[in-house]
Amino acid sequence: MLWFQKNCEKLIPTHAYANDGMKSDGLIDEIKSRIDIHDLIAEYVDLKRAGQNYKGLCPFHSEKTPSFMVNPAKQIFHCFGCNKGGDIFSFIMNYENMPFNEALSFLAGKAGVQIEASHGSGANKGLKENLFAIHEEALKFYRENLKEAGHALSYLKERDINEETIEQFSLGYAKSDRDALLRRLRNAGYTEAHLKASGLAYFSGDSAHDFFRDRLIFPIFDLRGKVVAFGGRTLSSSKNVPKYLNSPENAIFRKSESCYGLNTAKSHIAQKGYTIIVEGYFDVIVCHQFGFLNTVAPLGTALTAGHLRKLKKISNKVLLTFDADEAGIAAAKRTIELIYAEGMISKIVLLSEGEDPDTFLRKYGADQFRNFLAKASSPVRFFLSRAGRSKIDGVRQFLSILSSCRDQLLRDDALRELSDLASEKVLRTELSNMSHKATATNRPAHSDPLSSLPKESVPPAAPAMSKEEEILLNLSLSFPRMARRIAERIDASNLEHPLVKRLFAAVLALDPDEELTPEKIMTVCSTEERNVISKSSIDPGIDMDEVFQNVEGCIRKIAVKGIDRRIVVAKNEGNEKELSLLHLEKSRLLQKPVGLFQPKKPK
Ligand code: UTP
Ligand code: MN
Repeated sequence: MLWFQKNCEKLIPTHAYANDGMKSDGLIDEIKSRIDIHDLIAEYVDLKRAGQNYKGLCPFHSEKTPSFMVNPAKQIFHCFGCNKGGDIFSFIMNYENMPFNEALSFLAGKAGVQIEASHGSGANKGLKENLFAIHEEALKFYRENLKEAGHALSYLKERDINEETIEQFSLGYAKSDRDALLRRLRNAGYTEAHLKASGLAYFSGDSAHDFFRDRLIFPIFDLRGKVVAFGGRTLSSSKNVPKYLNSPENAIFRKSESCYGLNTAKSHIAQKGYTIIVEGYFDVIVCHQFGFLNTVAPLGTALTAGHLRKLKKISNKVLLTFDADEAGIAAAKRTIELIYAEGMISKIVLLSEGEDPDTFLRKYGADQFRNFLAKASSPVRFFLSRAGRSKIDGVRQFLSILSSCRDQLLRDDALRELSDLASEKVLRTELSNMSHKATATNRPAHSDPLSSLPKESVPPAAPAMSKEEEILLNLSLSFPRMARRIAERIDASNLEHPLVKRLFAAVLALDPDEELTPEKIMTVCSTEERNVISKSSIDPGIDMDEVFQNVEGCIRKIAVKGIDRRIVVAKNEGNEKELSLLHLEKSRLLQKPVGLFQPKKPK
């Protein structure tokens, strides 16, 4: 309980946020009485019971050991790593990056508490209400227009979009007139200021015209089913206009967090347990039409952490579809990293060039598409199969991406899969590369191919690597962020293997702010050493579950071995004084923790 008492003065009372004069005390208490902080935070953070509290990895800073605590009795949270703390309101404000009023209505919604109109935030509330109403009106207008737009309807027909899909997605049409929508909205009585804020028209000097003209309209709904923006596909064949336009961001629409189709898909995502992510508007509506109801797309941008956080609340699994071209593959790699950083699980399919889910489904049908999706690769397989001739490159790339993942279980799963998959394949490839080389240099044809395996390639003078050094090496390669901590706690003169020695020296020499990657670590090595390293990073040969428990032991053992060697020397020399000092040093060492997870004290 101490942590709470010590930190409670630092907590900002929720009322301090509610500075717009509204009488929200009663409302805040009502919401707090209905939402338990543990249940709320457990939706975002994996919490484990720890006595009176719950513990987890802090969502506000990057950490490997949990210092984020939730106290259900006091209904507060606090992180000992970054010192953020507070109640359910401060959690949501921080996590969702919402101002107080938004957090209030968000939590009120969750709690099923009605907010009276007077609880809104004055002017801003007025603006938002007007923007919602303007979009509602525009949607009505676009839908009416579609009924009379012969060329738009026949375009939809050409693309096999049926009546039901048009209804379900409320598709519409924006006329080619200069300002048809604007006139309609002005007649409905909206102020110029609100019309400007909506982004549905361009204003320049005295003239103004509609943002969408002669376009098929895809309305974008928020999670409550309110229309907040539009996407528009051109129907003209002119190359001079962009194929798609999306509404600009405004007070009710954040592009980087909005997923097209999510309002309809969300219940199906929950039911299926994963989200299918496609690239375009047409892909979404066609997937839905063919029964893939858990499909969404970002809006003309790459997938962002904002999208993923929205999706994560419904399910933490995503199935990604990308083009098989270079850009698609690069996008897939970036997205996989982002997904790991959010602690989410992904699978990936690549569509052959020129194909997208829309064309695929209409050509081959739902069953084929289902079979195709069922063959989705895990990130590990994806990286290994993309790596070209040398699988090692794939392994390295994958490990450096995996290091962005804070979820230890996910990381361990991936490492296990990597070592299952890669060890044999990669070694075979490496082996065949090496035996080719061996033949080329006229080695005796009968020479045992195993003799050219990485381990044997180390210069003969190098001593065998001890188990402890091997574990520390593996750990540093798999989790490069650990490398510096380890390096700081080791006396380099106690290390035996030259590679391990050089590696940790190099780590210490790097700029402390520089992010370490296996590639970077490899830059300090000779070719032979790189082979040793790549073998270790593919096939750690140790149980990664145990590594974190063993790492302190390894560091201590290396130090003890160093002292033991000096003891032997002192004995041989008959140096009694040195001998007793060394014994003292050894017994001290065995008692004190290495402190791998505490900041190192300056010497
Ligand atoms: P694509 O160019 O891949 O087109 O854009 P598509 O979705 O297959 O379109 P169709 O099938 O020709 O109609 C994919 C997505 O990228 C965004 C849109 O969200 C689109 O659905 N995009 C594309 C834009 O925002 N602007 C553009 O000019 C083009
Ligand atoms: Mn398409």
